[in-house]
Amino acid sequence: MSAEFPIARPRRLRRTPALRAMVAETSLRPRELVLPVFVKQGLREPQPISSMPGVVQHTRDSLRKAAAEAAAAGVGGLIVFGIPAVKDGRGSAADDAAGISQLALSDLRAEVGDACVIMADLCLCEYTDHGHCGVLADDGYVINDATVERYASIAVAQAEAGAHLIAPSGMMDGQVAAIRAALDAAGYGETGICAYSAKYASGFYGPFREAAEGAPAFGDRASHQQDPANAVEALREVALDLAEGADMVMIKPALAYLDVIRRVADAVTVPVAAYQVSGEFAMVEAAAANGWLERERIISETLTAIRRAGASVILTYWAAEVARLLG
Ligand code: PBG
Repeated sequence: MSAEFPIARPRRLRRTPALRAMVAETSLRPRELVLPVFVKQGLREPQPISSMPGVVQHTRDSLRKAAAEAAAAGVGGLIVFGIPAVKDGRGSAADDAAGISQLALSDLRAEVGDACVIMADLCLCEYTDHGHCGVLADDGYVINDATVERYASIAVAQAEAGAHLIAPSGMMDGQVAAIRAALDAAGYGETGICAYSAKYASGFYGPFREAAEGAPAFGDRASHQQDPANAVEALREVALDLAEGADMVMIKPALAYLDVIRRVADAVTVPVAAYQVSGEFAMVEAAAANGWLERERIISETLTAIRRAGASVILTYWAAEVARLLG
């Protein structure tokens, strides 16, 4: 290389770990990570999930313990998925004050108080006997407005149980407005909404459906979740949710949708969350178990990429482990 004129040498800033750390543009902090947790009614022992090594369906007791450990590690929040013992067509357990999700939410508030953000996933697929996200018409179509009415009632039950943030994941039109109105009317004007605004009809949810026992008995979710082909449409969904009162927005899945995360982050002034979903977790765990990828390196690289794309909060099954590693 010629020395006749100064040539930029980016490698100067890469010579030592300290130099690299000083100029790193993206960082990961425990409080930006949210741990998704599963709790099942009637379990005596935590149940492993075969497609998600290290993740379990919790009992109420084991969930409390896991939450205390996650909070001690500095994790920013937990998001709760409840699995009831009995399911029916309308998902009655979802808004039952004595339903498993509500019991778990209040257990978590009792355990960690305000030290961690307690989030409630709001959908019907774990509670309906048909595994769909709402109330069905005879032809199997998820009826929008009747479903949204159910969501509004569930949101109030979750707020009553102590959730700091309600996270509606059903992708029904108008769900955020209905939930906001119901929360306000019930005296929960301070309970926030983290909307799954751009949730794609993704194959990456496969392992989750074993964990949450919410696989559709027939059909799929393509009539309400987004088409993976679309990014502009995500901006439209986000704008609608913000107009309806969402306090935060979420993109899901994460790694295959980094472009969507970036576009949304550039377009809004609210915090943007991204969900590193079950299939993203399972792919890395499977490859690492075969010795094909370096597990911790890939975990860190994927989380860094999601932050770099513009997510300020990441939901990840590795939240507690990564929080501990970050110290
Ligand atoms: C719906 C919901 C799903 C996930 C989170 N909330 C499943 C679906 O839409 O089919 C998937 C999360 C994951 O795969 O980790 N309640």
